[in-house]
Amino acid sequence: MEYHITALPGDGIGPEIMEAGLACLGTIAQKFGHIFHVEKLPFGGDGIDKENDPLPPKTLKACQNSDAILLAAIGGSKWDNAPKRPEEALLELRKTLGLYANIRPVKVFSQIAHLSPLKEEIVRGTDLVVVRELTGGLYFGTPKHWDNKSGVDTLCYSREEIYRIIHKAFTLAQNRRKKVASIDKANVLSTSKLWRKIANEISQEFPDVELTHYYVDAAAMLLMQNPSRFDVIVTENLFGDILSDEASILSGSLGMLPSASFSLDGPSLFEPIHGSAPELAGKNIANPISMILSVAMLLREAFQLEKEACALEKAVNDTLSSGILTQDLGGNAKTTELSKAIQERMIGGTQHG
Ligand SMILES: NC(=O)c1ccc[n+]([C@@H]2O[C@H](COP(=O)([O-])OP(=O)(O)OC[C@H]3O[C@@H](n4cnc5c(N)ncnc54)[C@H](O)[C@@H]3O)[C@@H](O)[C@H]2O)c1
Repeated sequence: MEYHITALPGDGIGPEIMEAGLACLGTIAQKFGHIFHVEKLPFGGDGIDKENDPLPPKTLKACQNSDAILLAAIGGSKWDNAPKRPEEALLELRKTLGLYANIRPVKVFSQIAHLSPLKEEIVRGTDLVVVRELTGGLYFGTPKHWDNKSGVDTLCYSREEIYRIIHKAFTLAQNRRKKVASIDKANVLSTSKLWRKIANEISQEFPDVELTHYYVDAAAMLLMQNPSRFDVIVTENLFGDILSDEASILSGSLGMLPSASFSLDGPSLFEPIHGSAPELAGKNIANPISMILSVAMLLREAFQLEKEACALEKAVNDTLSSGILTQDLGGNAKTTELSKAIQERMIGGTQHG
């Protein structure tokens, strides 16, 4: 099969980890006989430097016309005084593409569970997904203003906005351990009361999936006390913003975590959850696994290439088991070495370690 991917390397460590991700994609193409047409375009700070615009029109058009978008990372203090910040490109892209669902898997690999700031026995076995509503809620509701005397934000959700995100979570859960944790604050918030009602309605459509409701404050505690109880967590924008960051520390390094954002019918966006880590840039020491697992998510979710995604994920797991680790994981492997080791494991070539 042939697929068109727009690649946005961006800033800081972005170009280095993108290189690693695309090299793994190349190995998948070779092993499974696919053709991936990849167009690399400026975005973020790179867009400002090259086109005087964090989201150049050519980049936006290519994203809109592609089958999937792969983003590495953007941002850095270099653009602090630019008329537009690099991060604006991402907000604009999400808005234009209608990316309403943000999916963040958090998996604790047993080989590096000791790196988690929590006790190993607590995090071991954690394998959850946070599904966050991305385009509604408190961040976008109007009226929205502040002055010296008061500030106003508006929390508003329509039935459609709630329905599509919870439905997405149930669909994901069906292919996992069939458990949905719906997080709200239904004892206080009207939007949460509607949220809970709709979650109950949707659960009737999925009799094989178990639905549990949690208040957000209790969920925040349970995520630290017993994260392995969760399978798919679904929640609104603000709660999701906070809980997905809280969950991200479980794995021990931000460099391990991929994400995906979905629209209803356009191309999806796949990217590591972390930023551009400027202090690591140009040193060939960043962990490329977040990017490589983003490629695996892209293969599975955008192209339904399950076998290919599993092969890539297995190669990552085997490489970790052989002790080839970047600095953030307690090793001294370079970005390119780790990427090469993963590619070798995919094609069944030289084994290190
Ligand atoms: N989606 C994005 O592109 C995105 C997301 C968050 C932050 N940012 C931007 O990134 C820049 C840096 O932000 P920050 O330092 O707060 O967050 P960051 O995620 O870049 O870094 C946080 C910490 O994690 C480490 N880290 C991150 N990715 C790593 C990797 N792949 N391998 C090893 N270590 C890794 C960094 O060294 C740092 O210690 C800022 O300009 C910020 O606005 C961009």
